[in-house]
Amino acid sequence: MEILRAGGNAVDAACATALALGVVDPFASGLGGGGFALAYRAKGTTKQAGQLVALDFRETAPAGLAPAELGQRLLIPKQSGLSVGVPGEPRGLAELVRRFGALPFSRCIEPALRLARGFAVSPWLAQQIGEEYARDPATGPDLIGSLFGIDRAAALALKPGTRVSRPALARTLARLRREGVDAFYRGEIAGALVRATRAAGGVLSRDDLAGYAPVERAPLVSGFLGRTVVGMPPPSAGGVIVSEALGVLAEHVAAMQRAGAGSALTLHLVAEALKHGFADRARFLGDPDFTDLPLAHLLDPAYHKQLASRLAMDHVLAHEAYGTPAAPVSTPARDAGTANLSVIDSAGNAVVLTTTINLAFGARIVAGDTGILLNDELDDFTAAPDRRESSYERPHEVAADVFTISGNPANFAAPRKRPLSSMSPTLVLGPAGVEMVVGAAGGPRIPSATLQILLDVLLFGRDVGAAVAAPRIHHQWEPDLLYVEPGVPAEVVEALESKGHATQSAHDLGKANAVYNAGFHPSDHDGAGLQAASDPRSGGAPAGY
Ligand code: DON
Repeated sequence: MEILRAGGNAVDAACATALALGVVDPFASGLGGGGFALAYRAKGTTKQAGQLVALDFRETAPAGLAPAELGQRLLIPKQSGLSVGVPGEPRGLAELVRRFGALPFSRCIEPALRLARGFAVSPWLAQQIGEEYARDPATGPDLIGSLFGIDRAAALALKPGTRVSRPALARTLARLRREGVDAFYRGEIAGALVRATRAAGGVLSRDDLAGYAPVERAPLVSGFLGRTVVGMPPPSAGGVIVSEALGVLAEHVAAMQRAGAGSALTLHLVAEALKHGFADRARFLGDPDFTDLPLAHLLDPAYHKQLASRLAMDHVLAHEAYGTPAAPVSTPARDAGTANLSVIDSAGNAVVLTTTINLAFGARIVAGDTGILLNDELDDFTAAPDRRESSYERPHEVAADVFTISGNPANFAAPRKRPLSSMSPTLVLGPAGVEMVVGAAGGPRIPSATLQILLDVLLFGRDVGAAVAAPRIHHQWEPDLLYVEPGVPAEVVEALESKGHATQSAHDLGKANAVYNAGFHPSDHDGAGLQAASDPRSGGAPAGY
């Protein structure tokens, strides 16, 4: 809000918020990570009016990822030096602001810099720190202490409301504000990133950092209920999954409307649509710069119709009946950090941006005295099928099937390649401009959460706050389990089981936020203007003026 008030547009505000989140929520995202952003330039604004932009600032594998890692060690150890991808966040955010912002990037750094000099621990951060200590009592307090420049005892005493700062990160941010974003990718900071990663067994080099570039990609565009739904293309799988699921569900709109939001039939159809999307993700998707992906087929409305006609109202299908058949390869991979943010400004410009360092606290490697916490994004590559049982497993990691996702050779690790992601920033265009922006954190649960919020708002006319808070389900095809939040009524769960779903109770199926432009449909929604919602599952609140 500070940046909007200072004359910034949605792009400036989004980038400033991403930087600020990297300070106050260090478990989820930061300069050491990467992400995706969709932006829309409203008509009537000066630069590039009416233009949609999809910017991929996902991490890449270092060029030195050796055959040993690619052959016998396809399963890159989680939270290790080898799992560190070349960070894309600094150049991604700087490029967005340079090309589409109204303010200098240095101005967008200011709120983050101020926070790095002092802020209060939020309940959500305190919870994440507590979980880190529970997972790793030996080294957790040292990691947290190094982030905040405090000793072990002070780290153990942190609770909601405690004032903390990130002195090392503040120096890094001040330097980026002064010298520009290249100071991250060259010189002393780059040297510290390389040394810390190599000391932890990684292969990151100065050349990897100097050579990192975000990639502008053609956004995925599909139709739903008279709107244009814009999604992130690969290396995100999210846009494809949401597009396929919406295409399938478009054929069953009448049935869902009769049954209602949250009904067993609606949740069944949502789960079945997600299974088609996730099956195709597992079989076909990876970095488009390395493998030809069958996107035209996967996004074809005629294909979606065919998938929709395969669905049954009263029972699930055989495992192989979802998506387009091909031999799948299974792999373990787990997720647990990530931030999404959604902005619409007064001119109608909009940004939805999802960014991550992958698992909670990323690689758990802080680079020297830079305050930068490195990602473990290369964990998102698909491991070789014969290495499903890894010799390396962090013993404390929660064994949660919800984090196991299947893949295929298009997502095998290779030098300079980007690992496939679930992050699904989504933008909905109506006849007069942006109607909605929505996205989520939560690994594979991201497209599921995003899909359900889109349906709640666009199909069922729910208020965006109710849509974000509503209990959700999640299905990712493999494992064959329907995850159900506790808020779904018991009789609905029973009805889903009677259709053949194996259900499992699960908390926090994605953490989402959204902004909705109610001005488009004043009859369906209370009041005109913008409505915004931040997920009650993860704290936080919308702001605007
Ligand atoms: O890009 C991905 O799909 C994962 N690295 C995201 C991890 C994640 O969302 C963890 N969430 N809470």
